Amino acid sequence: MAVAAVHVLVFPWPLQGHINTFVPLSTALVNSGVHVTFLHTEHNFRRVRCTEAAPRLRYLSVPDGLPDDHPRSVGDIFTLMESMWTMGSAAYRTLLLSLLFPGSGEFPPVTCVVADGIMTFAIDIAEELGVPALAFRTASANSFSAYLAVPRLLELGETPLPVDEPVHGVPGMEGFLRRRDLPRLAPAADGHPTESETAADVHPFLLTVAKGIAHCGRARALVLNTPASLEGSALAHISPHMRDVFAIGPLHAMSSVPAPAASLWREDDGCVAWLDGHTDRSVVYVSLGSLTHISHEEFTEFLFGLLGTGYPFLWVLRPDMVGAAEKEALRGAIGDGSKVRVVDWAPQRDVLRHRAVGCFLTHSGWNSTMESILEGVPMVCWPFFADQHINSRFVHAVWRAGLDMKDMCDRSTVRSMVTEVMESSEIRESVQALAQRVQRDVATGGSSDNEFKRLVGFITELST
Ligand code: UDX
Repeated sequence: MAVAAVHVLVFPWPLQGHINTFVPLSTALVNSGVHVTFLHTEHNFRRVRCTEAAPRLRYLSVPDGLPDDHPRSVGDIFTLMESMWTMGSAAYRTLLLSLLFPGSGEFPPVTCVVADGIMTFAIDIAEELGVPALAFRTASANSFSAYLAVPRLLELGETPLPVDEPVHGVPGMEGFLRRRDLPRLAPAADGHPTESETAADVHPFLLTVAKGIAHCGRARALVLNTPASLEGSALAHISPHMRDVFAIGPLHAMSSVPAPAASLWREDDGCVAWLDGHTDRSVVYVSLGSLTHISHEEFTEFLFGLLGTGYPFLWVLRPDMVGAAEKEALRGAIGDGSKVRVVDWAPQRDVLRHRAVGCFLTHSGWNSTMESILEGVPMVCWPFFADQHINSRFVHAVWRAGLDMKDMCDRSTVRSMVTEVMESSEIRESVQALAQRVQRDVATGGSSDNEFKRLVGFITELST
């Protein structure tokens, strides 16, 4: 089949970190001559203001089943899952069915689905309707491998807890993985482990995610936004459990054509001009991603820890992260704004690329980690939940690209780790070497570039 007749429906899990990975995937597919229908939920479709599309790319939407003003934050993930599995999946089935026949303008019928691996229903429904489906996971291969090992971990009693006890149940990670590095549920608002985290026999979150991960083995292939040079060992452990595996990241660096904006929040467009006024590597960039919430105490410790470093900092505090008390504390700290800038949402990739940024205080979401590595910016990691605990462990203990605060949050740790990362030439050189490696992976003829071409061939073959 000619590539022009190939039409892929891509369907991300409707949260920012997932959308941000699917957007460059779509751009890369479109640049290869493939038609792409990008499926948002109606709620997100309105928020990202999808008005423009490129030739061969269009946006459609299905309801997620929740009222528009219902929060889609970390505490509501199970509600979102429930409603996506019922209302969302029914609407997806109807839409997909309607796209299987000619007659939708210049777009040929859908020939393949690439769905977020979280949405097992999207893969099953596509296959039921005779459409080959691939699972795309937006998190790291290391975290995927750890989730695959969950049944074994539970058997061994190696459950996630904030302790240093070593973990033996994850293949290839013996020796440095500790129980505090395992994927876990978001902490309760008071920062203490939740009841389900402390109960050895009940881990609903872990089991739910692990079930979804294992389900990816039913898809025609697993696609991961990672380069083999960074996660080759985990990829080798995952491979026998999947029908095929494609390691094609970091996708945002692969396309020569910039991917369209997809932010659910409005980006502050003054960040870059503010950074322009600072000297090279003098600013700390602080962002905890799209889902993290922090308590008032954590906010206070971050604030005074950062102020204690003496470095200027740019801090992303989403409107759903702070209340009146935090805003009041900030007003007192910011002064004339020359040393501290606080924004709702930043153009993160532009910020990390800016010469003035010397360190990234991050929650270790996989996109943020890859974006930081690609720009050679060292990290201080404060992982919040899920895959982030494994990512931060690798950043610190394996890639030497930063330091891992893990489950500590006090001003003296913030101050000393940020200062160390800002000043350490060893960490900087190590992350810059990683950046070069990853840039080679995405360049023409690199491992991710080759894998992406193989993926297009694979999809084309499935589409005939
Ligand atoms: C979570 C997971 O931890 C992540 O590993 C998984 O793949 C998706 O879900 P999230 O909290 O969204 O992710 O973090 P991350 O993966 O880092 O994604 C955040 C994205 O938002 C990044 O692409 C980042 O560039 C962008 N961002 C963040 C902005 O554009 N502006 C900001 O101010 C903050």
